This record gives sequence, structure tokens and C-alpha cells, in this order.
Amino acid sequence: MRKHSYYLLFLCYSLVILNIMGCQNKNSNNKNSTLDSLQVLNYSALGDSVSMAAQQALMKQLTQAMQSKGAAYAVNFCSERAIPITDSLSNKYNCEIKRVALRNRNPGNALTEEDRIVFDEFAEDLINGVSPKSKVVSQPKTILFYKPIVLGMPACLQCHGKADALNPIAYAAIQSKYPEDQAIDFSLGDLRGMWKLTFTK
Ligand code: HEC
Repeated sequence: MRKHSYYLLFLCYSLVILNIMGCQNKNSNNKNSTLDSLQVLNYSALGDSVSMAAQQALMKQLTQAMQSKGAAYAVNFCSERAIPITDSLSNKYNCEIKRVALRNRNPGNALTEEDRIVFDEFAEDLINGVSPKSKVVSQPKTILFYKPIVLGMPACLQCHGKADALNPIAYAAIQSKYPEDQAIDFSLGDLRGMWKLTFTK
């Protein structure tokens, strides 16, 4: 019986200590929303692999859709499947995955004020001939990971290019689905948008 109460006392003591440590940890996180360099490295690596997985999943399905049923069908695919694909990866990696852009096709992919700051930095890098790198931004409750999406494949121009490069059937489908579309007139090498991953702290 006595042994038992010592044990209980020890358990309570450990819980109190753990609690204090937990609180300290939380406090230091809140006070200091900047990350140390190791955390930045970890989130960069994680963000890189998650956005790569998302990119590969989208590209694979987009290419299949275009090859099997043509560009107009692929437009439907992009509008109906792009978000579910990124959502299923979001669940798998426990973070929100989005593609955002200044000149967007889907208004749901518009930039927030914070996104705009990073987007402008990426755009400036490109103007200066520097290839833009991914960026980790720490906020009080979340960590944001951004990666530039530079238009790198001629196939993208069928749906995002200038008038002479657009696929007329695909573009007709785009116009009917996205009457506010702003995502055309791009050239190869342009900054098309960014991957945005939101991790909860
Ligand atoms: C078959 C037409 C088609 C092709 C080809 C295509 N896209 Fe898109 N793209 C779309 C559609 C439709 C959307 C809107 C998806 C949505 O509703 O989220 C979109 C959205 C995007 C977005 C999200 C931001 C926004 O504008 O809403 C990015 C970034 C993007 N595309 C990049 C690319 C890149 C890079 C390529 C080439 C690898 C490419 N797209 C090829 C049709 C296409």
C-alpha cells in the first residue's frame, strides 16, 4: 500500500514536471514565432517532398487525361480532380496543400497578403536572372512553405499560353468554366504561381 502511494506521488510529480515543460515549450513557441535554422531546414525538406509528390500526382494524371481524351477533357479533369488530388495528399501529410497565383484561373487560388510578399520576391528573383528558391515563413500558429511554379513545359501553354499557343477547344472549355480566368498570356520561364503548404504548429 505504501509502495503504491509512493508510486502515485512519483507519477503526479512527473506529470507536473511534464506539464511545466509543456507550457514552457508552448510559451517559447508563441513568444518566438521565428524558427531556428534547423527547423527551417526540416520544413524545407518536408515541404519539398510533399510539393514534389503533389506535383507528380497532378502531372501524371494531367498527361494521361490529355493523351487519352484530349485537352478539352483535361480541362474538366483539372477543374474537378486537381483539388481532390491535393486534398488527399493534404490528409496524408497532415498539412493544407494549395496552388496559388496572382493571375489565377480559379479565384479560390488567389494570393493572400502574406502570399503576395513571397510571390513578389520570387518574381523579382526571376527578373534578376536568379532561380527562385522555396521559402519557409513562420506565423504564430502555422508554418507556411512556398515553392515557385515556373512554367517549364510547352504543354502548359495549351491552357495558359498566349493566343497563338492556346488550344482553342481547351480554351473554350476554360472560358465556360472560369468566366473570370486570368491565367493566360504566359510564356515559358514565367512565374505561373506557387505551391503553398500550411503546417499547423
Ligand atoms: C488542359 C488544360 C491545362 C493544362 C495543359 C495546364 N493547366 Fe494549369 N490549370 C488548368 C485549369 C482548368 C486550372 C484551374 C484548376 C482549379 O480549378 O483549381 C489550372 C490551374 C493552375 C494553377 C493554379 C492557379 C490558378 O491559376 O488557379 C497553376 C499554378 C497551374 N494551373 C499551372 C500549370 C502548369 C505549370 C502547367 C504545365 C505543367 C499547367 N498548369 C497545365 C488547366 C490546365
